[in-house]
Amino acid sequence: MRLYINIDHVATVRQARLTDEPDPVRAAVLAELGGADGITVHLREDRRHIQDRDVRLLMQTVRTGVNLELAATSAILDLAVELRPMQATLVPEKREEVTTEGGLALSDASQLGTTKAALKRLSDAGIRTSLFIDPDEDAIRASVDLGADAVELHTGEYANAGGGERPKQIARLSRASALASKLSVAVHAGHGLTYENVHPVAAIPEIEELNIGHSIVARSIFTGLEAAVREMREIVRRARNAS
Ligand code: PXP
Repeated sequence: MRLYINIDHVATVRQARLTDEPDPVRAAVLAELGGADGITVHLREDRRHIQDRDVRLLMQTVRTGVNLELAATSAILDLAVELRPMQATLVPEKREEVTTEGGLALSDASQLGTTKAALKRLSDAGIRTSLFIDPDEDAIRASVDLGADAVELHTGEYANAGGGERPKQIARLSRASALASKLSVAVHAGHGLTYENVHPVAAIPEIEELNIGHSIVARSIFTGLEAAVREMREIVRRARNAS
C-alpha cells in the first residue's frame, strides 16, 4: 500500500497572503521524511493553491515520485507533457467547487472523448495514468476501455456518509476494487480520508495507493508534517496487516 501525500493545502495557506510561505516544496521534503511514498499536487486551472513554479520545483526535488492531478485542458496537459511527472491523475474540475466533488463523468460522450485524448497525450509522454472515478461498475469498465493504467476510486461519499450508511459505502468500494483488479487496472483511492475513517478503506486488499491531503495537513499544524505523515502511515500499515 503506497501512501501519497497531497500537499495542496500547504499552498492554500501561502496563497491566503500571496506570500512565499509556507512553501509546498519544503513540505514535500518533510512528507518524504515521514514516510510518504509519493507527493500529489493538483494544478487547478484557477491556480488557487498550487502554482506552476511549485510543480516545476517539485519535479526537481521530490525523491519518491510526483502524482500530478489535472483536468484535461490543453494548457495543463502541455505542462504535464513537458514536465513528465511519474503519474498523472485526470480529475473533473469546476471553477466554483470548494474541492473535487465527483469522479469523471465517463458516460458523457464529450467528457469520454476529452479523457481519451488526454490519456493518449500523457501515455505517449511515458506518464503512468490514473482516472479519478466514482466507485461504480460503469465507470470502471469505461476506464478499462480507455486504457488507463489505474483508477482512483472517489472515497468522498464514504467519508461524508453517516454511521449507518458507511458499511454500504465500504461494500461499494470493495466491489469496485475487486472488479477493477479483475479487469487488470490498478486501484487507488482518495478524497476525504482522515485518521478516523481511513482504516476500513486501507483494509481493502486490492487498493494499492491512497491519496490523502487535507486531514494530514490539518494535523501537521499541531504535530508537524513529518509526524502527521508517520501517524497516518502507521494506521494504514495496521489496517493492512489486520485485513
Ligand atoms: N484524490 C483526488 C483525485 C483529489 O482531487 C483530492 C483532493 O485534491 C484528494 C485525493 C485528496 O483529498 P483530501 O484532501 O480530502 O484528502
